[in-house]
Amino acid sequence: MKILFVCLGNICRSPAAEGIFNHKAREAGLPVSADSAGISAWHAGEKADRRMRQTAKNRGYDLTSISRPLISSDFEDFDYLIAMDDQNYDDLQAKAPDSGHLKKILRMRDFFSDKRFDHVPDPYNGGSKGFEMVIDLLEDASENLIQFIQKQ
Ligand code: 4NP
Repeated sequence: MKILFVCLGNICRSPAAEGIFNHKAREAGLPVSADSAGISAWHAGEKADRRMRQTAKNRGYDLTSISRPLISSDFEDFDYLIAMDDQNYDDLQAKAPDSGHLKKILRMRDFFSDKRFDHVPDPYNGGSKGFEMVIDLLEDASENLIQFIQKQ
């Protein structure tokens, strides 16, 4: 089982999702690996944003991914492609090579326990609270996603 987390820049939300999910899946002994990618190539080759890496580190997660753009073979290579927000979801749907791949595309909010939230907010232009919020939402969603996969 392979999962791809997708956001806009692949330097904040999806690298954090990758690191948190892989950490929790390892703890759960689940044979799943996660990667991440960006809708854009704006930050290709860069490490995750320094603020995101530091916030994650303080919470016990080491973010090691290097930003890369989504490529068309990702729709073949991954079992699920999980969008951080509705724009990422729409962009994924538009980029899917054929309609057979559409059912692989999910939203991270599908796995939120607290339904008052409906996306993982982009923290890039905000303050430190935004980065903490990203970790809070991703920890919760990763745990529920692991349960979803265990039931498959
Ligand atoms: P991400 O955040 O999609 O969570 O990686 C962003 C990073 C960079 C930009 C936008 C969002 N940007 O405009 O460069």
